[in-house]
Amino acid sequence: MKFFVDTAEIDAITELNDLGMVDGVTTNPSLIMKSGRDIIEVTKEICELISGPVSAEVVATDSEKMIEEGRKLAKIAPNIAVKLPLTWDGLKACKVLSDEGKMINVTLCFSANQALLAAKAGATFISPFVGRLDDVNLDGMDLINEIRQIYDNFGYQTQILAASIRTVNHVTQSALIGADVITAPPSVIKSLIEHPLTDRGLDQFMADWAKTGQKIL
Ligand code: E4P
Repeated sequence: MKFFVDTAEIDAITELNDLGMVDGVTTNPSLIMKSGRDIIEVTKEICELISGPVSAEVVATDSEKMIEEGRKLAKIAPNIAVKLPLTWDGLKACKVLSDEGKMINVTLCFSANQALLAAKAGATFISPFVGRLDDVNLDGMDLINEIRQIYDNFGYQTQILAASIRTVNHVTQSALIGADVITAPPSVIKSLIEHPLTDRGLDQFMADWAKTGQKIL
């Protein structure tokens, strides 16, 4: 399963990339706002750091403007995935831009039928928002399951990019179900390593080693 980092913070991307944990990056208008950076400049910088797909989102709501914005964003670097919302205008733009050979990430997916439409429109990635479904007392993982089954039934090549990942359990469940990619904030990716038995075991080994009086180096 691929790991995308859901942030526009260069330092956080660099830190995880140095650990080999970054297969791609996703951004959205809220994350660009949080970074305080210019969208073109920061996206270019991210694309220079990361060779995998870097999602940059359009902000127009009509298809013509989305296509124009998508073409401009795609010019930033060859690894840009143009992010489009799951509306009819977004899907129309998806069809045009994917026919031009651009990578497309269709975002704000909250139902299996929406994911089916995105696959038919030629999306490279579909982004079902797990955490936001949990927020309204639904089970976001059910959606990942349904999309996996539907895409497998018909052989759609659109990759399932489990988004709005908020917990380490979302990551485990996505991997078990067979999501192709997860995108998560750096904090969630960093906490995947945590286990109290690892800490306790290491403390014990260090204490016992000190008693031997030996050195390796
Ligand atoms: C996905 O591409 C989105 O940027 C992101 O995962 C949304 O997450 P949130 O619901 O935590 O804002």
